[in-house]
Amino acid sequence: MYLHDNELAVLTPSNFRVMNFGKKPLVKEVETIEWNVADAQKGGYEHFMKKEIFETVETVKNSLRGRLLEDGSSKLGGLEDIKDRFLSSKHLMIIACGTSYYAGMLGKYYFEELACIPTSVERASEFRYRNPIVPAGTTAIFISQSGETADTLEALREAKKRGALTLGVLNVVGSTIARESDAGVYNHAGPEVGVASTKAFLSQISVLMLMALFLRKRDTAASSELGVEIVHELKALPAKIERILKKDADIKKLAEKYLPYKNFAYVGRKYNFPVALEGALKLKEISYRYAEGYAAGEMKYGPLALVDGWMPVIALATAGSVYEKTLSNLQEIKARDGRIVAVATEGDLRIGSVGDDVILIPSSLEILTPMLSVIPLQMFAYHTAALLDLDVDKPRNLAKSVTVE
Ligand code: M6R
Repeated sequence: MYLHDNELAVLTPSNFRVMNFGKKPLVKEVETIEWNVADAQKGGYEHFMKKEIFETVETVKNSLRGRLLEDGSSKLGGLEDIKDRFLSSKHLMIIACGTSYYAGMLGKYYFEELACIPTSVERASEFRYRNPIVPAGTTAIFISQSGETADTLEALREAKKRGALTLGVLNVVGSTIARESDAGVYNHAGPEVGVASTKAFLSQISVLMLMALFLRKRDTAASSELGVEIVHELKALPAKIERILKKDADIKKLAEKYLPYKNFAYVGRKYNFPVALEGALKLKEISYRYAEGYAAGEMKYGPLALVDGWMPVIALATAGSVYEKTLSNLQEIKARDGRIVAVATEGDLRIGSVGDDVILIPSSLEILTPMLSVIPLQMFAYHTAALLDLDVDKPRNLAKSVTVE
């Protein structure tokens, strides 16, 4: 039963009553949540976070199930009622916090590339404290695992007031944001218990890609071809994720090796830039190591001054259009005595020239690489915190669902 604002439930061992603040009894509808108890238990894993990283394979399958179409587009039941308005969007705004915000950064790349609709990404905590311009024809997309984040909820209310069509990309069915948005798409990631968001991030990116395929411009052969390629590759991703998860013991060894270091930089370009930010967030929130993510090309505008043998750089250097540029950024780091842990693509014979340590991941379409490259970073953060014997699932000072602004 969902309690709305200004409603109250009184629970006793044998009964319950629901009322409003004026003590008027309320009759509530019962809704069934489809998550099962096993999903919310550790199932033999030491921590929820590890279990949830290992659930990613299934999560991606669940997020995509029944939604991919062979013509390179997608079917999203939750958007049917507002389909025409969504398809004619002139501008998209993505609004979210934390990990969901980083997923949103990828959403911007996807929407602009596939649908050619200008897209901005906003930090929900800042949105309503300025004068956000919401032009006619704006669709505002709110990404939230919990669907309860107060900053995101308030931004939704503000965007609605300003006339936007509001959509949710949410994991928790019936959450407040789900109830207050005009329509949306559920992630189907199942319950995520660990404070550090892992499998939900993968499900958010999957859904954003599905939405981009939904909006995809269908007027050129090139765009159809790309859509078909993406659909094909999305289906291959779970098996590739599984191969990365098999590197768990190697990544644990790497975490052991880097345990004495207290400061880390994460760098990546293009699609791997949001992944660098997310990797740094994962490490800092659960291991309390200082970690910052940068666009690799920005290092020379300041952060390069920080580099020495005591600040390892975790570099996302996977195959694709920015590989050469990334490699040359890494050479600049190497020349300053930096230690580099590179996430690169299987078959890369050049990465060894800069990487002190290399984690190889399967190749994929460049646009989908983040769904693979983020996983070793999640595992590295996990092992670092677990080796330090920290409370991995409940890091200090943080909450899973942030219901204050
Ligand atoms: O439930 P939400 O997706 O709205 O949560 C947003 C952030 O609180 C959340 O992503 C937070 O940054 C995580 N602890 C990151 O791992």
